[in-house]
Amino acid sequence: MNRADLKIVIVGRNGQLAWEANQRFQGLGQIICVGRPELDLLDIEGVRAEIRRIKPSVLVNAAAYTAVDQAESEPEAAMKINSEAPAVMADEAKRLGGLFITYSTDYVFDGKSAAPYKETDSPAPLNVYGASKLSGERAVEDVGGNYLIFRTSWVYGARGKNFLKTILKLAVERPELRIVDDQVGAPTWSRDLADATRNIMEQLVMKSAAEKVPIGEALGNRGGIYHMTAAGSVSWCGFAAAILEEMEKRGLSKRSLVKIMPILSSDYPTPAARPHNSRLCNDKLKNTFGVTLPPWQASFAAVMNELVH
Ligand SMILES: NC(=O)c1ccc[n+]([C@@H]2O[C@H](COP(=O)([O-])OP(=O)(O)OC[C@H]3O[C@@H](n4cnc5c(N)ncnc54)[C@H](OP(=O)(O)O)[C@@H]3O)[C@@H](O)[C@H]2O)c1
Repeated sequence: MNRADLKIVIVGRNGQLAWEANQRFQGLGQIICVGRPELDLLDIEGVRAEIRRIKPSVLVNAAAYTAVDQAESEPEAAMKINSEAPAVMADEAKRLGGLFITYSTDYVFDGKSAAPYKETDSPAPLNVYGASKLSGERAVEDVGGNYLIFRTSWVYGARGKNFLKTILKLAVERPELRIVDDQVGAPTWSRDLADATRNIMEQLVMKSAAEKVPIGEALGNRGGIYHMTAAGSVSWCGFAAAILEEMEKRGLSKRSLVKIMPILSSDYPTPAARPHNSRLCNDKLKNTFGVTLPPWQASFAAVMNELVH
């Protein structure tokens, strides 16, 4: 299949990842972004009809119900958006002989392990959001076809709602920030996720052109779940300290004037429980596709530059 015939549909438009994917996939084929209201993931039959109408060669689901605490009181909506809708998308992609790509989360694990989680480790979500994403993974696996599920963590970027944006705001409003120090993970830049996804799609485009097979078939036996996060890890408190340091370097705030207080998760009760260890092992991604994401510190510095300039 050549690039002119490749129709890549991104589900989601204004989300952190969807927005970056729309920028970073350009040149790979015809890129079509569908967001609300054309495609409401709560309207399952509408999702099916819209995919049948557009007929993508690659369907990338970058939308999700991501309000982790709110999901505790809206489990039906979380389930529909994070499980039923991806299953229908996977089913339609399979019917079209295409490739389906979707994203999942570190929150499928309970965080009790001391080591970074591998794809072969057993999930045991602590909250409704994690359960709905795990249910989505299993529903997509049950459909089969040619699919990739990328589990990521702590997504942030210059756009959208995320921890970085919250700290940037609070650091100029408050003299003291109390931040959880017993949850560790990898802050992952939405752009790095989009670039890693593009890299893999590019490999499949080349293979499909060389072997004259549809892009889904170019995946061969490599379909499945992959962990895809930035390299390295840090606690939320450590990430907040890094943000304050970068702010001071750029003259945005005085680090010395804002005090950071490390606290325990138990000092900051939230409706949804969160895993203490959110670290994911990315070896399978590297060994299968040769793809690694940069260290979180490097990407974070790039995001700060973008926010300032
Ligand atoms: N954010 C994180 O920290 C994090 C961590 C681990 C994994 N992930 C996963 O990474 C992926 C990308 O996350 P993200 O951070 O880019 O998410 P995000 O910024 O919260 O964006 C989610 C997108 O989903 C859309 N959406 C929600 N409900 C919808 C519905 N009923 N119909 C249509 N669209 C709907 C939203 O549309 P509107 O703009 O119209 O609301 C929004 O564009 C998701 O699969 C997420 O589960 C995220």
